[in-house]
Amino acid sequence: MGFSPPCLSQSLSFILFLFHFHSTISSPLSSNYQSLSLLQFKQSFAINSSASLEYYCQYPFPKTESWKEGTDCCLWDGVTCDLKTGHVTGLDLSCSMLYGTLHPNNSLFSLHHLQLLDLSFNYFNFSHISSRFGQFSSLTHLNLSGSHLAGQVPLEVSHLSKLVSLDLSSNYGLSLEPICFDKLVRNLTKLRELYLSSVNMSLVVPDSLMNLSSSLSSLKLKYCRLQGKFPSSMGRFKQLRYLDLGWNGLAGTIPYDFDQLTELVSLDLSRNYDASLQPFFFDKLLQNLTKLRDLALDFVDMSLVAPNSLTNLSSSLSSLSLANCGLQGKFPGKIFLLPNLKSLYLSSNKDLAGSFPSSNLSNVLSLLSLSDTKILVYLENNFINNLKSLKYISLRNCNIRISDLALLGNLTQLIYLDLSNNNFTGEIPSSIGNKTLSNLQYLYLFDNLFNGTIPSFLFALPSLQYLDLHNNNLIGNISEFQQDSLVYIDLSNNDLHGTIPSSIFKQENLEALILVSNSKLTGEISSSICKLRFLEVLDLSDNSLNGSVPLCLGNFSSKLSVLHLGMNNLQGTIPSTFSKGNSLEYLDLNGNELEGEISPSIINCTMLKVLDLGNNKIEDTFPYFLETLPELQILILKSNKLQGFVKGPTAYNSFFKLWIFDISDNNFSGPLPTGYFNTLEAMMTSDQSMIYLNTTNHIVCVHSIEMTWKGVEIEFQKIQSTIRVLDWSNNSFTGRIPKVIGKLKALQQLNLSHNFLTGHIQSSLGNLTNLESLDLSSNLLTGRIPMQMAHLTFLAILNLSHNQLEGPIPSGEQFNTFNASSFEGNLGLCGFQVLKECYGDEAPSLPPSSFDEGDDSTLFGDGFGWKAVTMGYGCGFVFGVATGYIVFRTKKPSWFFRMVEDIWNLKSKKTKKHVGRCGAGRN
Ligand SMILES: *[C@@H]1O[C@H](CO)[C@@H](O)[C@H](O)[C@H]1NC(C)=O
Ligand SMILES: *[C@@H]1O[C@H](CO)[C@@H](O)[C@H](O)[C@H]1NC(C)=O
Ligand SMILES: *[C@@H]1O[C@H](CO)[C@@H](O)[C@H](O)[C@H]1NC(C)=O
Ligand SMILES: *[C@@H]1O[C@H](CO)[C@@H](O)[C@H](O)[C@H]1NC(C)=O
Ligand SMILES: *[C@@H]1O[C@H](CO)[C@@H](O)[C@H](O)[C@H]1NC(C)=O
Ligand SMILES: *[C@@H]1O[C@H](CO)[C@@H](O)[C@H](O)[C@H]1NC(C)=O
Ligand SMILES: *[C@@H]1O[C@H](CO)[C@@H](O)[C@H](O)[C@H]1NC(C)=O
Repeated sequence: MGFSPPCLSQSLSFILFLFHFHSTISSPLSSNYQSLSLLQFKQSFAINSSASLEYYCQYPFPKTESWKEGTDCCLWDGVTCDLKTGHVTGLDLSCSMLYGTLHPNNSLFSLHHLQLLDLSFNYFNFSHISSRFGQFSSLTHLNLSGSHLAGQVPLEVSHLSKLVSLDLSSNYGLSLEPICFDKLVRNLTKLRELYLSSVNMSLVVPDSLMNLSSSLSSLKLKYCRLQGKFPSSMGRFKQLRYLDLGWNGLAGTIPYDFDQLTELVSLDLSRNYDASLQPFFFDKLLQNLTKLRDLALDFVDMSLVAPNSLTNLSSSLSSLSLANCGLQGKFPGKIFLLPNLKSLYLSSNKDLAGSFPSSNLSNVLSLLSLSDTKILVYLENNFINNLKSLKYISLRNCNIRISDLALLGNLTQLIYLDLSNNNFTGEIPSSIGNKTLSNLQYLYLFDNLFNGTIPSFLFALPSLQYLDLHNNNLIGNISEFQQDSLVYIDLSNNDLHGTIPSSIFKQENLEALILVSNSKLTGEISSSICKLRFLEVLDLSDNSLNGSVPLCLGNFSSKLSVLHLGMNNLQGTIPSTFSKGNSLEYLDLNGNELEGEISPSIINCTMLKVLDLGNNKIEDTFPYFLETLPELQILILKSNKLQGFVKGPTAYNSFFKLWIFDISDNNFSGPLPTGYFNTLEAMMTSDQSMIYLNTTNHIVCVHSIEMTWKGVEIEFQKIQSTIRVLDWSNNSFTGRIPKVIGKLKALQQLNLSHNFLTGHIQSSLGNLTNLESLDLSSNLLTGRIPMQMAHLTFLAILNLSHNQLEGPIPSGEQFNTFNASSFEGNLGLCGFQVLKECYGDEAPSLPPSSFDEGDDSTLFGDGFGWKAVTMGYGCGFVFGVATGYIVFRTKKPSWFFRMVEDIWNLKSKKTKKHVGRCGAGRN
């Protein structure tokens, strides 16, 4: 400008003057028009603080609130203008709490001169990205990340050929077609930063990344669902500093030209589960990548790499994450001495041994996870004393000695402490309650053998949010909580007794309360529970609670997704208060003394996947209204007093997602409701994709089920894709089993026993090739056993006893394994199984030489079949989706997921009792 201002404020006013001069003289109309557009933009959104979450937004602030008509828009918050032309060239409304749909006719699109547009971390309600973004031809920076956009990225984005930085990441639900991506990479030649994490790019060929501008400095494609080989010739991106291809399906060895990326500061290839790293190449890589600060290779196969190679890591390293890499051998303790190391994550390298240096540990180390390794086996005494700057420590299943815990009280900065699964015995050490642990928010002591009472100091830790003591031998009452910061409480599977302390109802942020299988917990469930607005999981199952189910549970919190009060002594009726818009996915009241009807208000639970009302005293007719619940997968009404005809489907898609249908042990009568055989689609196909988990809540519950085979309890953790059951036994159904039953091809268990069924056994039963158990016993079935049933190769259990069947018992591999008890009480049957020779046209079927006499006869007999004792769920945090997304949804920082994932990764191995344990999130 050719003048030097005497001081800053004068120069500023000069600039303002200059600007006013321009905006009033040269383009008054344009300026006016711009103000109007911006004001219209402002009006098209509401301000809602939940639109900009604190985790991403350090200072969420509604910038548009300062925008006032009649003032100069170039002075508004977030707006930048070109001083010469007066055009609005920059709009930075990141974290501005904007809430609403971003329509294609939004006045935003008339601001043609924008060079920078940042709308990140607002809530656009899953709007599509308008093709009109392509009109911002001057745009150099576009950031729409974390703003709840969905749909396809429009082709027109590739018109923005001046773009230097493009960020569309963390919009879960956005996808990018190969055509669009190809155009984008070819036309955006100036691109230096490309962030598309969590955008679905599953159809994009990884090699097409090669067409990106070679001046690229940042490329982040985490959880883009890329499939196939790693892109070749990544080496051409010589200026690349940040590369994140984690959480994809990239497979094979990591290409050797990665060692050309000498400028790399951060490299994340973690969780490409089929990727591997060659030993010689790893050495070279580390020699070349001298600037590396963050390295994450979790789940990449490094089993051939000698841990000693890690000593080549650059001294600038600040974060190293090698969980589950299959590392074996002695871990070089030297790593702990790296001066800048802040975070070290080595969990689940089961054969990684070694020891901890006793002194000179990096004193900036704040996160350490050694879970499921043997690094601490040869522990130096007092090692904990060396970790004073630690904030997060995970030592699950780590062979740590309880005597070392005495030193925990010295870790004054500790926020997160996981000591689960270590076989600790005795009382919970008082060092954990040390007053100096005033920052402790997460305390995981589950899966140990701690005994005695829960020490009172735990109830006084001032910052505690997550308390998980499940699977110990703790006794006594649950004391009153002194703190009111709790978010998650799990005290399941101990021997606690007494009542639920009232202070629980003061935990305003409580999301999960799990007190399963403390068989002595008594008392009523106070309706104060409904004060907990954020509750997502309430599991008080398998106790001795009495009283009624609080009515308010039906409509108190739109977040409640798991309500499990099964196996108590609850009386009264099922709440009739389920209201619209609730989030209930899992409702289990099995094993109580509930009476009355099946509440019609359950129809309002449109997200319901599991409904288990079995083993109560419910008196009602068949609840047809459940047929249209769109997500219902499991329906258990067994052992009640239900009666009347079941006339069959009332809608064309009745129960189409149902894969467990148990109405056994009731008083239903009339013809078998065979119409359902035409609508039970989930039982017709073994396509596992039909059953998927809801990932919109951060606590995802994987349903598991407990069954008894003559007293033997089996837990099916991964039930979501493994078992399809139809059990209509022990009713008074009449009529025939129609041919159409052959449609239910995916069925694994079929039980129609103890009814009054007549007619023949249909040969179409031979189509149910997935059948593992079949019980048609105690009916009035006549005729022969169809030979086609010999094709049921998975059939392990068969009971056709007590019918009026006749003729030869089919022979064949599977049938030869069944003995007399499968067929007894059918006087007309013959064959070696019943020790009765067949005559005449009944071809004799001789015992084959392979027949094993002692075979599982004990598995069946009276009351054969599966009986769901109770349904459980394993709930954990979703790790199937991008960390970024989870973090975004749940306000939890990413370290949290890394650490907590440790916990959910391994299933709890020592579950004393069965029921719904939280602990099997990932399958
Ligand atoms: C590339 O950008 C120019 C203008 O910036 C546009 O005219 C052209 O259509 C774009 N090409 C593609 C393939 O999108
Ligand atoms: C990196 O490795 C490559 C290939 O091994 C080698 O050609 C190159 O000289 C190395 N670069 C540096 C800076 O060490
Ligand atoms: C609590 O921490 C302080 C400070 O580090 C220490 O002096 C004290 O011995 C600790 N007490 C227990 C019971 O661990
Ligand atoms: C740590 O704890 C031990 C045992 O409680 C104590 O003797 C020591 O003074 C504490 N402080 C430090 C700095 O080691
Ligand atoms: C705990 O005890 C079991 C059974 O004795 C053993 O298999 C396991 O290795 C022990 N775990 C630890 C961490 O010591
Ligand atoms: C707790 O366990 C320890 C070690 O096994 C034992 O010595 C102690 O008696 C137990 N205490 C109680 C209250 O059961
Ligand atoms: C469903 O909920 C609404 C309130 O949200 C209620 O008025 C209605 O009665 C409920 N439906 C049934 C069948 O109870």
